[in-house]
Amino acid sequence: MTLAGNNGGKQGHYYLLSEKTPSGKFEMPQLIFLPHEEICPEGAVIQAETGATICDAALQNGIPIEHACEKSCACTTCHVIIREGFESLADADEAEEDLLDKAWGLEPESRLSCQAKVANEDLVIEIPKYTINMVSENH
Ligand code: FES
Repeated sequence: MTLAGNNGGKQGHYYLLSEKTPSGKFEMPQLIFLPHEEICPEGAVIQAETGATICDAALQNGIPIEHACEKSCACTTCHVIIREGFESLADADEAEEDLLDKAWGLEPESRLSCQAKVANEDLVIEIPKYTINMVSENH
């Protein structure tokens, strides 16, 4: 686990990014993206504000996750699988659940990244190898 540099002015004490600081505030959670051949070959670790969608946080940090319907919950190209921290996210609504059923490589921890909002826990995120668009174009 990476440690935050914010030590509150005290030498030698660091807080985990997702822990509360003495002021009672959460640090910005970390989003850890696992490597994806085309979108982020090396993987990436970014920080996101609580309440931001995973898709927006990724795009703002140079991770070009697909979002064919412009984040309006009408495609599945922004599908991600939450490998750690899934339970911290608010439940998917019905529209998201219905769409997810059509996503390539659906798993129990699948979410549409344009709908899932970062809570106050770190997340480990896998971008599936294919989106439904790629499957229909290339296969
Ligand atoms: S970008 Fe289309 S559902 Fe997320």
